[in-house]
Amino acid sequence: MIKAIDFGQLYREHLARSGRVFKSASEWDSKAVEMRTKVLDSSYRTEFVSRMQYTADDSVLDIGCGPGTIGLALAPKVKQVYGLDYSQGMLNAMLQNAAELQLDNVHPILASWDDDWNAVPVCDIAVVSRASIVADMADALDKLNRHARKKVYMTQLVGGRFISREIAELLGREDRSFPDHMYIMNMLYQRNIYPTLDYLESASRLAGSSSLEELMDKVRWSFGELTVDDAAKVTAWYQRDPEYAQQGGEPMRWAFMSWTPPAH
Ligand SMILES: C[S@@+](CC[C@H](N)C(=O)[O-])C[C@H]1O[C@@H](n2cnc3c(N)ncnc32)[C@H](O)[C@@H]1O
Repeated sequence: MIKAIDFGQLYREHLARSGRVFKSASEWDSKAVEMRTKVLDSSYRTEFVSRMQYTADDSVLDIGCGPGTIGLALAPKVKQVYGLDYSQGMLNAMLQNAAELQLDNVHPILASWDDDWNAVPVCDIAVVSRASIVADMADALDKLNRHARKKVYMTQLVGGRFISREIAELLGREDRSFPDHMYIMNMLYQRNIYPTLDYLESASRLAGSSSLEELMDKVRWSFGELTVDDAAKVTAWYQRDPEYAQQGGEPMRWAFMSWTPPAH
């Protein structure tokens, strides 16, 4: 019986196997300046927001909000936006962006997924964008369901990899993927919640090479130094279909999940 499987435990075991080292809040602080404007103009952002439903009366809780990627796109169209992040640098970046956009309905909340969230407001909509590789997914889903009245929107990597699956397999590199969206889909099903699933695609990290040498540099950046044998495999992969290789192979896919939380 699928309902008897402990997907929360399987998630934790997968995460432990992945060797994931969680970044500290100060490590995210140091990325905030670079990320502040970069994330505000992307097809990922447009695609995410275009899949959402909201009204002018809604409040939004954006968890792991970063510099306001999703929250600030919504702020002109909803009543209030609360950006929650454990990095003060990211919250400062969000507030600077909000000020530049003359938005006065954006509120920072300095908190972590791991805190108790007693002081976090319950909103109409909860958003988690690219910020859900958490230590305890069961606890995270319970928090989301308690803090959203109407809808939760969440993205999670498909396959759990930022690096190319095709090249990882080609080079026989150890699979250290993170737990992906299928754990979440199953955990929601076990809670009698029926999420809608869609996919957002963006270019692979290997995209944009105009020659084999450029591709090889990008592969080294993701996978480290290559042996002569590795280089021969990448060369053969490139030569089989240079156009496909120049696109970086398969796109990176984000699962876009949305669901109605149980009535409170
Ligand atoms: C990849 S960024 C995503 C930012 C934004 N949501 C987006 O899609 O562009 C991940 C964000 O999650 C935040 N974050 C990471 N771990 C967190 C935690 N345990 N609690 C709260 N925020 C966290 C980071 O500070 C960072 O701002």
